[in-house]
Amino acid sequence: MDSPHILSIAQLSKHFGGIHALNGIDLHIAPGEILGLIGPNGAGKTALINTITGFYQADSGQMDFMGHSLIGRSLHDIGRLGIGRTFQNIRLFKRMSVLENVMVANKSYAAHPLLAFWGFRKRGAAVDEAMQWLHTMHLDHKADASAQSLSYGEARRLEIARALAGYPALLLLDEPAAGMNESETEDLIQDIHTARTQVKAMLLIEHDMGLIRSLSDRVVAMDYGRKIAEGSASAVLEHPEVKRAYLGEDQ
Ligand SMILES: Nc1ncnc2c1ncn2[C@@H]1O[C@H](COP(=O)(O)OP(=O)(O)OP(=O)(O)O)[C@@H](O)[C@H]1O
Ligand SMILES: [Mg+2]
Repeated sequence: MDSPHILSIAQLSKHFGGIHALNGIDLHIAPGEILGLIGPNGAGKTALINTITGFYQADSGQMDFMGHSLIGRSLHDIGRLGIGRTFQNIRLFKRMSVLENVMVANKSYAAHPLLAFWGFRKRGAAVDEAMQWLHTMHLDHKADASAQSLSYGEARRLEIARALAGYPALLLLDEPAAGMNESETEDLIQDIHTARTQVKAMLLIEHDMGLIRSLSDRVVAMDYGRKIAEGSASAVLEHPEVKRAYLGEDQ
């Protein structure tokens, strides 16, 4: 299917027993765009990322990414096609240094671990490259620190640096600001602006509506596995169904 979009999803469904984590989702991400994805807990946001990336296999529906169908593809294959992600629950190699965490994410370097022994020139180039990603996420001063020594905000930024090191065309961020204080979130907004220049498009899941407003070109809201609203951030946040979905959460 020829599509002008980076990602086109049609009627995507995924259930677990009686739970419809995704229930007929239609969605697209246009070139250059940051698409914000909101919805109360359990709405299906992470399930959507997990299904796009091949972590879950869809029950039905279509997903097309830059001319390739993603249906039935493996996690590895989808990563190679150019989709990168971060995790809601941070996943780093805690005992490795910050720099090493980025180096293992670099496809050419990670695919040839023996490069480390082949000579300093190649290893040096891989280090330089990883340092660039750390610089992009303002973590270069932490390169030699162990990943487990990082603050929560730093660990989340390292996850983004790692994802960027895989040169994704599409970057999927799952609650990058979770656990950050206000000033860390402010810094993160700047860093995501920078990260955006390195990829073709981004999907941004967040509960922080300030961050959604500052970064999203368009917003989709989900509830119970369905898309309940789509449009500008202010239109979606004011949408009656969205308000109802969030209020319902507190009842
Ligand atoms: N592997 C799984 N096995 C069983 N149920 C699952 C699984 N993954 C997701 N679910 C269910 O699917 C629904 C959607 O979950 P999901 O994690 O996508 O929500 P979410 O929108 O990311 O919520 P949050 O904002 O809390 O992260 C939930 O009811 C969840 O319990
Ligand atoms: Mg989630």
